[in-house]
Amino acid sequence: MKTTREKIEELRLLKEQALQGGGAERIAAQHKKGKLTARERIELLVDSGTFQELDMFATHRATGFGLEEQRILGDGVVTGYGKVDGRLVYVFSQDFTVFGGSLSEAHSEKICKIMDLAMKNGTPVIGLNDSGGARIQEGVVSLGAYADIFLRNTLASGVIPQISAIMGPCAGGAVYSPAITDFIFMVEGTSHMFVTGPNVLKTVTHEDVTFDELGGATIHNATSGVAHFAAPSEVEVLRQIRTLLSYLPSNNMGDPPAIPSDDPVTRADDALDEIIPDNPNRPYDMKDIIRSVADHGSFFEVQEQFARNIVVGFARLNGKPVGFIAQQPNVLAGVLDINSSDKGARFVRFCDCFNIPIVTLVDVPGFLPGVAQEHNGIIRHGAKLLFAYCEATVPKVTVITRKAYGGAYDVMSSKHIRGDINYAWPTAEIAVMGVDGAVNIVFKDEIARAADPEARRAELVADYQEKFANPYVAAARGYVDEVIEPRHTREKLIVALDMLKNKRDSLPPKKHGNIPL
Ligand code: HXC
Repeated sequence: MKTTREKIEELRLLKEQALQGGGAERIAAQHKKGKLTARERIELLVDSGTFQELDMFATHRATGFGLEEQRILGDGVVTGYGKVDGRLVYVFSQDFTVFGGSLSEAHSEKICKIMDLAMKNGTPVIGLNDSGGARIQEGVVSLGAYADIFLRNTLASGVIPQISAIMGPCAGGAVYSPAITDFIFMVEGTSHMFVTGPNVLKTVTHEDVTFDELGGATIHNATSGVAHFAAPSEVEVLRQIRTLLSYLPSNNMGDPPAIPSDDPVTRADDALDEIIPDNPNRPYDMKDIIRSVADHGSFFEVQEQFARNIVVGFARLNGKPVGFIAQQPNVLAGVLDINSSDKGARFVRFCDCFNIPIVTLVDVPGFLPGVAQEHNGIIRHGAKLLFAYCEATVPKVTVITRKAYGGAYDVMSSKHIRGDINYAWPTAEIAVMGVDGAVNIVFKDEIARAADPEARRAELVADYQEKFANPYVAAARGYVDEVIEPRHTREKLIVALDMLKNKRDSLPPKKHGNIPL
């Protein structure tokens, strides 16, 4: 019979064995690819010394294919909880050195266990994905095991923040767990996501692409919009996840974390009085305005590379997190198209799920015209953004900096769809359409009949500009609460958000709405 001391020694040895994962050789191979191990990643993610591992000794129960000879402690995933900036988070980190991080029944049970704990305790889940997908030897059992996670991802959506980092391969149906979560981070060069990999594509569709070309970090950040963040290294991705968490509440019942701010509320910025060019067709950088009003100029942009005609991200105003959604006049004149509508809608909904007030900066010439946009469903996609804003009950403060034309005026958090406080700069032009277009339609016959059509047109444009291309018609009706001097925008936003801090609004009772997907 073993003595107590021997039993403790046995435990230590088992733990030692579990920490080896797939063994020194596979760990070296992982490092050689420029990748960290599952536990190294967790150490970088959470506050030092706070990680508590669960199910370290879990093993698969499969037989056949020689699996009974290969029961590796932990079964390819490290799970547990720790703290980020002192706040509790749950983490799973797939261990590629064990069966390529592939997902078995036991592996899934470990992930489901921490997800269930996270739901009960109202705490974010961070998944560090590095996996060959379903454990091939377990067949349908591993498919079912994935579905157990998909279900939990879905039920947790809008209750706790869920963050995915792709740190290696992520293929087949496995991509759908990250896709259901709120944010996806990717590492440039070493992470890939695809439903079907390049080798299969070659035989099925005869397309010849590299892993990176098909589903690398750049593709998913800049082109597909599947991912929200990319960084050149795993260390940087993990650092960015910590930054993201600093803006988020732990769950949908909590407020986002406020921190003391020494940036004066009344800080005015004279540069904002000069930022709108006199020529309405000249662009400017909307991010300059966001950085000007945000505490210490700090803006954490989300989906920076995708649909750059709209800008979304987090900042703090007087220490409190807000979500900014803003047109970018520098890209496609800030027009709303399919991708920018999708991007904006998802961000509005995220903020609304998690009690993060929304600040909308508007300079929008309208929806993008064109056959391609129409045929690909700009109506359906634009409706998502409209729906998201209508549905959102968090405090919503809007500033129209320049153009707010047509349906896009309504969509961009207008008063009519429950914008709480709607400001306009004196440079705002709120109208059904741009001056030239409007005059050409309304005064077509009059211009044609005029002795000097061009001179008459110029007169009518000037007249229309004077009458309609300003914020005062909207202000006269209360659609704009106040026309403000640009330099005071920071203070105006902070004061409005403070006034709205106890806002309560709701939706009619329903199972859920039917957002046009
Ligand atoms: C079991 C797996 C595995 C898997 C990899 N391994 N994928 N074991 N099930 N799905 C094992 C390998 O046998 C190998 O074991 C080790 O992991 C490392 O794999 P390598 O191939 O040596 O590594 P690498 O060259 O880096 O290639 C990585 C890879 C490749 C690109 C991920 O392994 C691969 O293509 N795997 C299959 C991917 C796949 O098609 N999965 C199913 C997707 S469909 P040893 O012992 O040699 O170290 C899916 C459905 C989900 O997941 C459905 C949800 C509904």
